[in-house]
Amino acid sequence: MRQRTPVFVNILIITVLLVIFYYLFVQSYSFLASPYFWGTVVISAILAYIHSAIGDLIENNKFKKLTAEEKSAYLNEKKIPFLKRQYDAAFKKQSETEEKDILIDHGFDGIMELDNQLPKWWVGLFWFGTVFCAVYISAYSFTDFAHPLTEYEVEYKEQIASIAAYEKDQPQVTIETAEFSEDNIAAGEEVFKTNCVSCHSDGGKGGIGPNLTDNFWHNQPEKTLFKNVFHVVENGVTGTAMQAWGKNGVLTGRDIQNVAAYVYHINQEQPPITPAQGGAPAYGDEAKWEKQ
Ligand code: HEC
Repeated sequence: MRQRTPVFVNILIITVLLVIFYYLFVQSYSFLASPYFWGTVVISAILAYIHSAIGDLIENNKFKKLTAEEKSAYLNEKKIPFLKRQYDAAFKKQSETEEKDILIDHGFDGIMELDNQLPKWWVGLFWFGTVFCAVYISAYSFTDFAHPLTEYEVEYKEQIASIAAYEKDQPQVTIETAEFSEDNIAAGEEVFKTNCVSCHSDGGKGGIGPNLTDNFWHNQPEKTLFKNVFHVVENGVTGTAMQAWGKNGVLTGRDIQNVAAYVYHINQEQPPITPAQGGAPAYGDEAKWEKQ
């Protein structure tokens, strides 16, 4: 007859599992102060006691049916402390006589198979994994808990809110207040790489959109180059692929000030990328920009 696990061990295991699951859902240990948590622990403990009492009854009945020899073997084994018994079950090798008892009758080529019991730690891990899986799948399917899409959504909103809060404190840049500054070129290059390079190509040499490095401009609404670029990026060019980045709310005034500094830089401070060097051909009229 097999020895049973003492009830205090079961209660300990249940409590540890409860702590793990509560922690998963609450994401902090604050539940340790909650009556719901301790209520669950107490109810689980009572159920474990009932389970153990029923086990005792069954055990007593089975015990009566054992032979005198089996009875004493059982009682002797019961004297071994629980942890020692677990250790032996997990690591001790069977003696030859014990092996005979669990030999399965389908050896082949001299290889015999033993009907070993699975180690307790293995069975425990298996059940833990199974329960964890069930809880996780139902949480994933029916709640927002630990859901990557929900977490993304929340973090995305937080970031947008923090950007909006930052923008609120900064003075807005408009075409009247915008100014060219060397310091904005690097930031402008980033804006360009993210938003513009798909049409205007590397370094603004032109592709779907015109070459921004030469002196030919189809759109010349302003008198200075810097303001002209600001104007075109803010308002776009109606009826073309060049959208109104500022008016559509894609870029802020500061982004446009930066990218206009970059376009000014590649147009005025760098040699043009000619068609011979892979640049797009001239588009529009030659510009005579006023000084800034
Ligand atoms: C979807 C493609 C596309 C994207 C993306 C795009 N542009 Fe354009 N852009 C164009 C086209 C097409 C034109 C030419 C419009 C026309 O025919 O007047 C243009 C024109 C321009 C002009 C005026 C050129 C001229 O000769 O008049 C500037 C300046 C400009 N874009 C800057 C930018 C900047 C800066 C960005 C990024 C914020 C950007 N563009 C993103 C397609 C694009």
